[in-house]
Amino acid sequence: MTIKPLRKAVFPVAGLGTRFLPATKSMPKEMLTVVDKPLIQYAVEEGAGGGIEQIIFVTGRGKVRSRIISTSPTSSRATMRARGKSLTVLDGIRQKPGSPVYVRQQEPLGLGHAVWCARDIVGDEPFAVLLPDELMVGKPGFMKQMVEAYNKVGGNVIGALEVADSETDKYGIISPGATDGRLTEVTALIEKPAKGTSPSNLMIPGRYILQPEVMRILEGQEKGAGGEIQLTDAMAQLIGNQPFHGFTFDGQRYDCGDKAGYIQANLALALARDDIGPVVRAFAKTLLG
Ligand code: G1P
Repeated sequence: MTIKPLRKAVFPVAGLGTRFLPATKSMPKEMLTVVDKPLIQYAVEEGAGGGIEQIIFVTGRGKVRSRIISTSPTSSRATMRARGKSLTVLDGIRQKPGSPVYVRQQEPLGLGHAVWCARDIVGDEPFAVLLPDELMVGKPGFMKQMVEAYNKVGGNVIGALEVADSETDKYGIISPGATDGRLTEVTALIEKPAKGTSPSNLMIPGRYILQPEVMRILEGQEKGAGGEIQLTDAMAQLIGNQPFHGFTFDGQRYDCGDKAGYIQANLALALARDDIGPVVRAFAKTLLG
Protein backbone atom coordinates (compact mmCIF):
# COMPACT_ATOMS: atom_id res chain seq x y z
CA MET A 1 0.00 0.00 0.00
CA THR A 2 1.40 3.38 -0.96
CA ILE A 3 0.57 6.15 1.44
CA LYS A 4 0.09 9.47 -0.33
CA PRO A 5 1.38 12.43 1.67
CA LEU A 6 -1.19 14.76 3.17
CA ARG A 7 -0.96 18.33 1.85
CA LYS A 8 -4.49 19.73 1.78
CA ALA A 9 -6.94 20.66 4.49
CA VAL A 10 -10.56 21.72 4.37
CA PHE A 11 -11.85 24.14 7.01
CA PRO A 12 -15.65 24.26 6.98
CA VAL A 13 -16.58 27.76 8.13
CA ALA A 14 -20.09 27.97 6.72
CA GLY A 15 -21.90 27.04 9.94
CA LEU A 16 -24.57 29.35 11.27
CA GLY A 17 -23.30 29.33 14.85
CA THR A 18 -26.80 28.99 16.31
CA ARG A 19 -25.41 27.56 19.56
CA PHE A 20 -23.63 30.88 20.07
CA LEU A 21 -26.33 33.46 19.50
CA PRO A 22 -26.52 36.42 19.87
CA ALA A 23 -22.71 36.80 19.38
CA THR A 24 -22.90 35.07 16.00
CA LYS A 25 -25.45 37.59 14.70
CA SER A 26 -22.61 40.02 14.09
CA MET A 27 -19.58 37.76 13.97
CA PRO A 28 -18.79 34.39 12.37
CA LYS A 29 -18.22 31.87 15.18
CA GLU A 30 -14.77 31.02 13.81
CA MET A 31 -13.72 34.59 14.62
CA LEU A 32 -14.55 34.27 18.31
CA THR A 33 -11.28 34.77 20.14
CA VAL A 34 -9.78 32.55 22.77
CA VAL A 35 -7.55 34.90 24.79
CA ASP A 36 -6.19 36.83 21.81
CA LYS A 37 -6.56 34.69 18.69
CA PRO A 38 -9.61 33.71 16.67
CA LEU A 39 -10.60 30.06 16.63
CA ILE A 40 -9.89 29.80 12.91
CA GLN A 41 -6.29 30.81 13.51
CA TYR A 42 -5.76 28.04 16.07
CA ALA A 43 -7.12 25.54 13.53
CA VAL A 44 -5.01 26.86 10.64
CA GLU A 45 -1.87 26.80 12.80
CA GLU A 46 -2.66 23.27 13.94
CA GLY A 47 -3.00 22.20 10.30
CA ALA A 48 0.25 23.92 9.35
CA GLY A 49 1.97 22.09 12.22
CA GLY A 50 0.84 18.86 10.56
CA GLY A 51 2.45 19.87 7.24
CA ILE A 52 -0.63 21.26 5.48
CA GLU A 53 0.29 23.50 2.53
CA GLN A 54 -3.04 23.97 0.80
CA ILE A 55 -5.79 25.61 2.82
CA ILE A 56 -9.37 25.37 1.61
CA PHE A 57 -12.06 27.37 3.39
CA VAL A 58 -15.68 26.42 2.77
CA THR A 59 -17.62 29.58 3.50
CA GLY A 60 -21.34 30.12 3.62
CA ARG A 61 -23.91 32.63 2.52
CA GLY A 62 -23.57 35.94 4.26
CA LYS A 63 -20.21 35.07 5.77
CA VAL A 64 -17.78 37.88 5.19
CA ARG A 65 -14.72 36.32 3.65
CA SER A 66 -12.57 39.33 4.43
CA ARG A 67 -13.22 38.83 8.15
CA ILE A 68 -11.52 35.47 7.92
CA ILE A 69 -8.72 36.33 5.52
CA SER A 70 -7.89 39.70 7.03
CA THR A 71 -8.41 40.40 10.68
CA SER A 72 -7.61 44.09 10.59
CA PRO A 73 -9.22 47.00 8.75
CA THR A 74 -7.27 48.34 5.77
CA SER A 75 -6.62 51.65 7.51
CA SER A 76 -4.58 50.05 10.28
CA ARG A 77 -2.60 47.62 8.13
CA ALA A 78 0.35 49.91 7.43
CA THR A 79 0.75 50.60 11.15
CA MET A 80 0.46 46.91 11.98
CA ARG A 81 3.05 46.04 9.33
CA ALA A 82 5.42 48.75 10.59
CA ARG A 83 5.15 47.30 14.09
CA GLY A 84 5.80 43.78 12.81
CA LYS A 85 2.35 42.49 13.84
CA SER A 86 0.38 39.80 12.04
CA LEU A 87 -2.22 41.03 9.60
CA THR A 88 -4.21 37.89 8.95
CA VAL A 89 -4.79 34.47 10.43
CA LEU A 90 -2.57 33.06 7.67
CA ASP A 91 0.52 35.14 8.35
CA GLY A 92 3.68 33.18 8.97
CA ILE A 93 2.20 29.95 7.66
CA ARG A 94 4.01 28.15 4.87
CA GLN A 95 1.53 27.61 2.08
CA LYS A 96 1.53 26.40 -1.46
CA PRO A 97 1.59 29.38 -3.84
CA GLY A 98 -1.99 30.27 -4.67
CA SER A 99 -3.31 29.08 -1.35
CA PRO A 100 -5.74 29.67 0.35
CA VAL A 101 -8.72 28.80 -1.74
CA TYR A 102 -12.30 29.74 -0.89
CA VAL A 103 -15.25 27.72 -2.00
CA ARG A 104 -18.88 28.55 -1.31
CA GLN A 105 -21.50 26.31 0.20
CA GLN A 106 -24.62 27.89 -1.24
CA GLU A 107 -27.02 26.29 1.21
CA PRO A 108 -26.49 24.96 4.76
CA LEU A 109 -27.14 21.30 3.93
CA GLY A 110 -24.75 19.78 6.49
CA LEU A 111 -21.08 19.05 7.14
CA GLY A 112 -20.93 16.31 4.49
CA HIS A 113 -22.20 18.73 1.88
CA ALA A 114 -19.76 21.44 3.01
CA VAL A 115 -16.82 19.05 2.59
CA TRP A 116 -18.13 17.93 -0.80
CA CYS A 117 -18.11 21.57 -1.95
CA ALA A 118 -14.28 21.34 -1.83
CA ARG A 119 -14.12 18.28 -4.13
CA ASP A 120 -12.57 20.02 -7.16
CA ILE A 121 -9.75 21.53 -5.10
CA VAL A 122 -9.11 18.32 -3.18
CA GLY A 123 -8.97 16.31 -6.42
CA ASP A 124 -7.43 12.86 -6.15
CA GLU A 125 -5.47 13.34 -2.94
CA PRO A 126 -5.94 12.53 0.71
CA PHE A 127 -7.14 15.55 2.65
CA ALA A 128 -7.72 16.69 6.20
CA VAL A 129 -10.83 18.29 7.63
CA LEU A 130 -10.57 20.48 10.73
CA LEU A 131 -13.63 21.90 12.47
CA PRO A 132 -12.42 25.18 13.99
CA ASP A 133 -14.93 25.28 16.84
CA GLU A 134 -13.14 22.28 18.33
CA LEU A 135 -10.01 23.78 19.88
CA MET A 136 -7.24 21.26 20.45
CA VAL A 137 -4.34 22.06 22.74
CA GLY A 138 -1.34 19.75 22.82
CA LYS A 139 2.31 19.40 21.97
CA PRO A 140 2.71 18.43 19.22
CA GLY A 141 -0.68 19.55 17.93
CA PHE A 142 -3.51 17.17 17.11
CA MET A 143 -2.93 17.25 13.34
CA LYS A 144 0.77 16.56 13.66
CA GLN A 145 0.12 13.60 15.96
CA MET A 146 -2.55 12.32 13.60
CA VAL A 147 -0.38 12.74 10.48
CA GLU A 148 2.35 10.66 12.14
CA ALA A 149 -0.19 7.90 12.74
CA TYR A 150 -1.54 8.25 9.17
CA ASN A 151 1.98 7.91 7.74
CA LYS A 152 2.14 4.47 9.36
CA VAL A 153 -1.31 3.04 8.60
CA GLY A 154 -2.58 5.10 5.63
CA GLY A 155 -6.23 5.07 4.62
CA ASN A 156 -8.57 7.08 6.77
CA VAL A 157 -7.69 8.29 10.26
CA ILE A 158 -10.14 10.28 12.36
CA GLY A 159 -9.96 11.71 15.87
CA ALA A 160 -11.38 9.48 18.61
CA LEU A 161 -11.95 10.85 22.10
CA GLU A 162 -13.93 9.51 25.04
CA VAL A 163 -16.92 11.46 26.30
CA ALA A 164 -19.44 10.83 29.08
CA ASP A 165 -22.48 8.61 28.35
CA SER A 166 -24.71 11.67 28.58
CA GLU A 167 -22.85 13.32 25.67
CA THR A 168 -22.84 10.60 23.00
CA ASP A 169 -26.02 11.80 21.29
CA LYS A 170 -24.32 15.11 20.39
CA TYR A 171 -21.56 13.67 18.20
CA GLY A 172 -20.43 11.22 15.55
CA ILE A 173 -19.62 7.96 17.38
CA ILE A 174 -17.12 5.20 16.58
CA SER A 175 -17.78 1.50 16.98
CA PRO A 176 -14.31 0.34 18.03
CA GLY A 177 -12.43 -2.81 17.00
CA ALA A 178 -8.87 -3.73 18.00
CA THR A 179 -6.73 -1.09 19.68
CA ASP A 180 -2.99 -0.62 19.22
CA GLY A 181 -1.62 2.23 21.32
CA ARG A 182 -3.42 5.40 20.28
CA LEU A 183 -4.93 3.77 17.17
CA THR A 184 -8.28 1.98 17.22
CA GLU A 185 -9.81 0.13 14.30
CA VAL A 186 -13.14 1.60 13.27
CA THR A 187 -15.78 -1.05 12.56
CA ALA A 188 -18.79 1.26 12.17
CA LEU A 189 -19.76 4.91 12.53
CA ILE A 190 -23.00 6.51 13.56
CA GLU A 191 -23.94 10.18 13.67
CA LYS A 192 -25.69 11.35 16.84
CA PRO A 193 -27.09 8.02 18.07
CA ALA A 194 -30.28 8.29 20.13
CA LYS A 195 -29.69 8.25 23.90
CA GLY A 196 -29.03 4.75 25.19
CA THR A 197 -28.17 3.31 21.75
CA SER A 198 -24.56 4.45 21.34
CA PRO A 199 -22.12 1.64 20.49
CA SER A 200 -19.36 3.30 22.56
CA ASN A 201 -18.18 6.51 24.21
CA LEU A 202 -15.69 7.27 21.46
CA MET A 203 -16.70 10.47 19.70
CA ILE A 204 -15.27 12.11 16.59
CA PRO A 205 -13.82 15.47 17.67
CA GLY A 206 -13.81 17.23 14.31
CA ARG A 207 -10.42 16.04 13.02
CA TYR A 208 -10.24 13.84 9.93
CA ILE A 209 -7.70 12.55 7.39
CA LEU A 210 -9.70 11.07 4.54
CA GLN A 211 -9.15 9.47 1.17
CA PRO A 212 -10.67 11.25 -1.85
CA GLU A 213 -13.10 8.36 -2.48
CA VAL A 214 -15.31 9.81 0.25
CA MET A 215 -16.12 12.66 -2.16
CA ARG A 216 -17.66 10.19 -4.64
CA ILE A 217 -19.80 8.79 -1.84
CA LEU A 218 -20.84 12.27 -0.66
CA GLU A 219 -22.04 12.96 -4.19
CA GLY A 220 -25.04 10.69 -3.65
CA GLN A 221 -25.27 10.84 0.13
CA GLU A 222 -28.82 11.00 1.46
CA LYS A 223 -29.77 13.23 4.36
CA GLY A 224 -29.14 11.70 7.79
CA ALA A 225 -29.32 12.89 11.40
CA GLY A 226 -31.00 16.29 11.76
CA GLY A 227 -32.04 16.20 8.09
CA GLU A 228 -28.46 17.08 7.05
CA ILE A 229 -25.99 15.44 4.69
CA GLN A 230 -23.59 13.92 7.22
CA LEU A 231 -19.87 13.34 6.69
CA THR A 232 -20.09 10.49 9.21
CA ASP A 233 -22.59 8.57 7.02
CA ALA A 234 -20.34 8.87 3.95
CA MET A 235 -17.22 7.83 5.90
CA ALA A 236 -19.06 4.79 7.23
CA GLN A 237 -19.28 3.45 3.69
CA LEU A 238 -15.49 3.39 3.32
CA ILE A 239 -15.12 0.92 6.19
CA GLY A 240 -14.17 -2.49 4.86
CA ASN A 241 -12.88 -1.07 1.56
CA GLN A 242 -10.04 1.04 2.97
CA PRO A 243 -8.11 1.03 6.26
CA PHE A 244 -10.06 3.07 8.82
CA HIS A 245 -8.70 4.04 12.23
CA GLY A 246 -9.56 6.30 15.12
CA PHE A 247 -6.69 8.22 16.72
CA THR A 248 -6.72 9.29 20.36
CA PHE A 249 -4.98 12.62 20.75
CA ASP A 250 -2.61 13.29 23.62
CA GLY A 251 -3.84 16.72 24.68
CA GLN A 252 -6.88 18.72 25.66
CA ARG A 253 -10.06 19.35 23.69
CA TYR A 254 -12.38 22.33 24.14
CA ASP A 255 -15.75 22.48 22.41
CA CYS A 256 -15.80 26.20 21.65
CA GLY A 257 -19.11 25.95 19.77
CA ASP A 258 -20.59 25.57 23.23
CA LYS A 259 -20.70 28.53 25.63
CA ALA A 260 -19.36 26.64 28.67
CA GLY A 261 -16.62 24.96 26.59
CA TYR A 262 -15.60 28.34 25.18
CA ILE A 263 -15.26 29.89 28.64
CA GLN A 264 -13.25 26.86 29.80
CA ALA A 265 -10.87 27.28 26.85
CA ASN A 266 -10.36 30.96 27.61
CA LEU A 267 -9.71 30.26 31.26
CA ALA A 268 -7.34 27.34 30.68
CA LEU A 269 -5.33 29.12 27.99
CA ALA A 270 -5.17 32.35 29.98
CA LEU A 271 -3.94 30.53 33.09
CA ALA A 272 -1.23 28.84 31.01
CA ARG A 273 0.17 32.17 29.80
CA ASP A 274 3.21 33.76 31.40
CA ASP A 275 1.99 37.32 30.80
CA ILE A 276 -1.61 37.28 32.01
CA GLY A 277 -1.69 33.92 33.84
CA PRO A 278 -0.78 35.21 37.33
CA VAL A 279 -3.35 38.04 37.24
CA VAL A 280 -6.12 35.74 36.01
CA ARG A 281 -5.24 33.07 38.59
CA ALA A 282 -5.39 35.59 41.46
CA PHE A 283 -8.72 36.91 40.19
CA ALA A 284 -10.19 33.39 39.79
CA LYS A 285 -9.18 32.60 43.37
CA THR A 286 -10.97 35.65 44.80
CA LEU A 287 -13.98 34.98 42.60
CA LEU A 288 -14.27 31.44 43.94
CA GLY A 289 -13.76 32.64 47.50
C1 G1P B 1 -20.09 17.54 13.71
C2 G1P B 1 -20.00 16.13 13.17
C3 G1P B 1 -19.88 15.13 14.32
C4 G1P B 1 -18.70 15.50 15.19
C5 G1P B 1 -18.83 16.95 15.67
C6 G1P B 1 -17.60 17.40 16.41
O1 G1P B 1 -21.32 17.70 14.38
O2 G1P B 1 -21.14 15.84 12.39
O3 G1P B 1 -19.72 13.83 13.82
O4 G1P B 1 -18.60 14.62 16.29
O5 G1P B 1 -19.01 17.86 14.56
O6 G1P B 1 -17.78 18.67 16.96
P1 G1P B 1 -21.99 19.14 14.67
O7 G1P B 1 -21.26 19.70 15.84
O8 G1P B 1 -21.80 19.96 13.44
O9 G1P B 1 -23.43 18.86 14.98
